Amino acid sequence: MSVNSKLYEGKAKILYTTDDPEVLLADFKDDATAFNAQKRGSIKEKGIINCSISSKLFQQLEAHGIKTHFIDSPAPNQMRVRAVKILPLEVVVRNIAAGSLCQQTGLPLGTLLQPPLVEFYYKNDLLGDPLLTRDRLLLMALATAEQVDTITHLALQINDFLIGFWQQCGITLVDFKLEFGVDSQQQVLLADEISPDTCRLWDIAEEDPNRRVMDKDRFRRDLGNVENAYQEVLQRVLKVVEATN
Ligand code: TMP
Ligand code: ASP
Repeated sequence: MSVNSKLYEGKAKILYTTDDPEVLLADFKDDATAFNAQKRGSIKEKGIINCSISSKLFQQLEAHGIKTHFIDSPAPNQMRVRAVKILPLEVVVRNIAAGSLCQQTGLPLGTLLQPPLVEFYYKNDLLGDPLLTRDRLLLMALATAEQVDTITHLALQINDFLIGFWQQCGITLVDFKLEFGVDSQQQVLLADEISPDTCRLWDIAEEDPNRRVMDKDRFRRDLGNVENAYQEVLQRVLKVVEATN
C-alpha cells in the first residue's frame, strides 16, 4: 500500500489517501485537546493506545454484526479504513449522567439513565458543537430521517455491546461519542474511533470520584496520571480480547 497525500488533519488524527480510492490511512496523534481546543497538550503514546483500543473494539463490533470503517492496523498508531463521507454529527450515548448533561440540566453526577440517552451534536468547531434536536438536524439536512433512525438504532446496539465489554474490563461505561460515515453504496458505517478520548470510563473497583476516572477527563480536569490511565485501559482491553479469542 502506498500512502499518498494528506487528506485532512483533525485534532487527534491525520487522514491520508492511499493508492486505493476506497481506502484511507488514519494516523493517530499523541496530541490532546479539550474545550474546543482551548486546552492543548500531549499524552505520551496516546496515538498507539487509542489506535490499538479502537482497532480491537471495531473488530469485536464487526464480529457482532456492526459494520465499521475498520480494515486493519498496519502499524501500532495507524489504521486502514474504508473511505466514507463523515456525517457532521457527534452521536453521544449516555448511561450515567456526567459532563455537559449535568452542567446543562442540573442532574446529579452519577444519576442512572434508563433507558440510555442518545443525543446528536452538530460537529462544527466554529459553533462549538451545539446540541441538536431531531427537527433542527433534519432542517439543516445534516442527515436524512432514515439515517437518523439507523444511527439511533446502531448507537443503542453498540452501547449494549460496549457496556458488556467494558464491564469485563472492570470498567463502567458512563457515556461515549460516536461518528458515522456513508460509503459509496450509501451504507452507514461506524467510523472515527472508540477510545479513552471519546468515552467516559470509570474503574469499577474505585469509589473515589476522581480516582475512578480512566479517560480523557483526567486531562480535561487536570486529575493527573493521564498516561497511566490510558495504558491501564489498553492492558485491560488486550486481556479481555485475548481471553475471548
Ligand atoms: P460531554 O458530557 O462533554 O457532552 O461528553 C459526552 C461524551 O462525548 C464523553 O464521553 C466525551 C465525548 N466527547 C468527545 O468524544 N468529543 C468531544 O468533543 C466532546 C465534547 C465529548
Ligand atoms: N475533542 C474536543 C476538543 O478539543 C473536546 C473534548 O474531547 O473534550 O475540542
